[in-house]
Amino acid sequence: MEEQAQVSRRRFVTSTFAAAALAGFANQASAANPEGRPSREQPKAGETTPRAIGGGSISRVIIDTDPGIDDAFALLLALRSPELTIEAITPVAGNVPLEFTLPNALRMVEIAERTDIPVAAGASAPLVRRLVTATYAHGENGLGGAVFPEPHTKPVSMPAAEMIREVIRKYPNQVTLITIGPLTNVAVALSLDPEIAHLARGLVMMGGSLSGGNITPAAEFNIYVDPEAARIVFQSGIPITMVGLDVTRKTALTEEHVRRLEAAKNPVSQAAAIIGRNAVTRNRAQGYVIGPNMHDSLAMAAFLDPSILKFQDYYIDVETSGELTAGETLGYSPVAGDLRRRPDKEKDLAAMNMPIRGSAPTLASVKTSPVLRDKFVPNTKVAVDVDSDKFFELLIGRLSGR
Ligand code: RIB
Ligand code: CA
Repeated sequence: MEEQAQVSRRRFVTSTFAAAALAGFANQASAANPEGRPSREQPKAGETTPRAIGGGSISRVIIDTDPGIDDAFALLLALRSPELTIEAITPVAGNVPLEFTLPNALRMVEIAERTDIPVAAGASAPLVRRLVTATYAHGENGLGGAVFPEPHTKPVSMPAAEMIREVIRKYPNQVTLITIGPLTNVAVALSLDPEIAHLARGLVMMGGSLSGGNITPAAEFNIYVDPEAARIVFQSGIPITMVGLDVTRKTALTEEHVRRLEAAKNPVSQAAAIIGRNAVTRNRAQGYVIGPNMHDSLAMAAFLDPSILKFQDYYIDVETSGELTAGETLGYSPVAGDLRRRPDKEKDLAAMNMPIRGSAPTLASVKTSPVLRDKFVPNTKVAVDVDSDKFFELLIGRLSGR
């Protein structure tokens, strides 16, 4: 009976939270002062931004982040990428509490002299769980102990979820969400306005893994922190590119990379060098044999140059009730894993009526079959291989300005 009560309480909390989020943000949105609205104008004439169908720009991005050592590298990479139009940066609690991820994001836009980009504060806790941080990896301040001055720049008044919603509706079919932290902000935005899943151009995430986790054997950290949020995102219908541990484990920052950053005399390279030097030293002191992985920068690079990665279509869903496995991303594909069947043509993939199975129903369940969906319909492009050298050429080249 206790189990049933727990399950129903969590369902009640989840649905209550979504209702509260709707009510809460709705109030703030009406109170938000106009200057908090996204101030980015259309790209100026002559700006070489790729064009979307219908004349928009496919390079419009929102970066949702929990800086975070590797987030800092990803943010600086984005800020040094002229083909991007960064409409907003939306910090979330994750690696460290929001009280650190927010100022760290503000520090990055100041270092890159891009304080024109609105930074909108997001969630300070997951949807229905206590926040579990990664200070063991990122240090108490989130930058591995690297110290930078307090930022002067202030966040805009609009909350992150409202900013995400507002920007996507302002530029339909042009905005890509690049998420490099837990997915709480995006889940709240989708709960506020489910239609944005079909108005966004897509979502590129650092998150998940089909080859085991990093914070538990099953779960990658971003999904682990807020599995309920991740499930909302994977089931929303937004086109997803998943850059998970399967490939990010092949992106260790080295001494040589740090030396190249130290040799370049510009504020962005110097900041990345300080953070990188601290992180490499910290990793070595903790007994790791390789440097810190550039998880988030690889997701950013996947948007900048998809040729760095190889992708496979999967149906991905998220475990949310496992006592040991919550946050695990389960990948279903007729042409991978134990099934390894080869379709004659791409279109045959859908024809392969590979069912999507959940766990066997318990005696208490009214269901008799574990089949959740009777046909395989992919919802995610999963990165399954990476050209690490090409990735680091992009990352270090852009950060150092060479
Ligand atoms: O598992 C790696 C992810 O968790 C990265 O986004 C890192 O910044 C941490 O948030
Ligand atoms: Ca991160």
